[in-house]
Amino acid sequence: MSYDLVIIGGGPGGYNCAIRAGQLGLKTAIIESRGKLGGTCLNVGCIPSKALLHASEYFEAAAKTFPSMGIKVSGVSLDLPQMLKQKEDAVEGLTKGVEFLMRKHKVDYVKGFGRITGAGRVEVKGADGATQTLETKNIVIATGSEPMGLPGVTIDEESVVTSTGALSLQRVPGKMIVIGAGVIGLELGSVWRRLGAEVTVVEFLDKITPTMDNEISTAFLKILKKQGMKFELGHKVTGAEKTGGGLLVSIEPAQGGAARTLEADVVLVAIGRKPFTDGLGLETVGVAADKRGFIETDHFKTNVAGIYAIGDCTHGPMLAHKAEEEGIAVAQIIAGLWGHVNADIIPSVIYTDPEVASVGKTEEELKSAGVEYKVGKFPMMANSRARTNHETDGMVKVLEDVASKRVVGVHMIGAGVGEMIGEVCVAMEFGAAAEDIARTCHAHPTMSEAVREAAKGVDGWVMQA
Ligand code: FAD
Ligand code: NAI
Repeated sequence: MSYDLVIIGGGPGGYNCAIRAGQLGLKTAIIESRGKLGGTCLNVGCIPSKALLHASEYFEAAAKTFPSMGIKVSGVSLDLPQMLKQKEDAVEGLTKGVEFLMRKHKVDYVKGFGRITGAGRVEVKGADGATQTLETKNIVIATGSEPMGLPGVTIDEESVVTSTGALSLQRVPGKMIVIGAGVIGLELGSVWRRLGAEVTVVEFLDKITPTMDNEISTAFLKILKKQGMKFELGHKVTGAEKTGGGLLVSIEPAQGGAARTLEADVVLVAIGRKPFTDGLGLETVGVAADKRGFIETDHFKTNVAGIYAIGDCTHGPMLAHKAEEEGIAVAQIIAGLWGHVNADIIPSVIYTDPEVASVGKTEEELKSAGVEYKVGKFPMMANSRARTNHETDGMVKVLEDVASKRVVGVHMIGAGVGEMIGEVCVAMEFGAAAEDIARTCHAHPTMSEAVREAAKGVDGWVMQA
């Protein structure tokens, strides 16, 4: 079979690339080995984690928030099998939806493991061991990433788990130790804390979510501690040993010092992810990767003509929407059109309660680049909707570059800020000044008024606080 484009990997990078390629009339095939489309995101990432975050948020609210709103509930209890089932239902529905989209856009879905065997040739090995070879003018590698392991900690996906195991625990652990205070650790740690686990997060650095704006990270830590999550910052885990009843986790200060042990029923290893390119045949055709295994690209092109790479297996944030953008851009380039991703405007959201959302530069990045900037801030405590809804934790911070008078960074914590970041991305794509946001009418009473107020703050005219 001969194609214009063969995509290896059916995650958000791959399947969005396939849809756009189909729309543009390219004869396209997508190869996926896990038996379902959707990649990490739909199967063991974004979607199942958000299903559990949403449900566990309701569970906690029923006991803790409803009474203060005059809603009496009694006998609230956890039906974990049903909570896990509704998560699986969400995954099932959405992965089937992606399959439908492949058919709709006339993309061939080839089940099996893809290996590049030469220029324009991809061999696919099916689950039954049978192989077929696809001939193609172009190849897009979209094989994603996998969790990183930690020496001394053996993962069994039952008591010592990665995010994949943590999405399917069959009972609520009494004590859970999370290694790594990054996005996965804090989201999934929040899920199991809300459902009843005592959660302790061990983080190597002395701050959580290290790449986040410092002020936001500090405020976020305070909120998580208030919710009952415990932290061992500046510590590293050196081993996890199974005992009769559970696990003994050894930790010691990152800078050296006395070791201690912590007891746990479940340990979640969430110290980052690494590109997945095993068995892909990169060496056969000479596709270059860096020391950490990320495929080197220039505008999605690898060093080998006709082979491109996108998403988690290349450089940049490991985010579904970044992979999606790159998938669209590369399909357009292959079809002879323009294709571009603005790496400066890729939002990032942590779906805890409250949520944390940011886009663009942090204050620390602007300082270290020597950029003169102005700051506007607004606390959620002063936002009328946040107060009405009993959701006053958080703030919005807008950063404007003095020289260009453009918004270059927005960082927020608050209920629903993951939705609010979209307006800021649009404004930034249009090169907005803070004043443009400040003079745009926002509906009242909404949380998004906090963005407007923070934007006013850049020019010193916050009105509501
Ligand atoms: P993937 O989604 O990893 O897809 C790659 C696919 O390629 C896989 O299905 C794999 O089976 C397949 N594959 C690999 N090699 C081969 C081969 N040789 N042949 C055939 N198939 C192959 N991001 C967000 O933006 N928002 C979130 O809320 C979010 N939550 C997350 C929660 C968790 C718990 C995790 C783990 C990740 C989360 N992410 C989130 C990150 C997001 O899932 C990834 O950034 C995204 O899935 C990357 O897309 P991708 O297409 O590059 O790769
Ligand atoms: P991460 O990179 O976000 O965080 C890893 C954390 O572990 C860091 O704080 C790091 O300092 C710490 N760490 C590293 N080694 C350590 C050690 N030995 N001991 C203790 N701490 C250690 O990685 P994470 O959370 O695993 O997530 C992987 C990727 O998945 C992220 O890049 C993220 O973008 C993506 N993701 C995105 C989500 C979202 O957008 N909401 C949700 C979940 C994952």
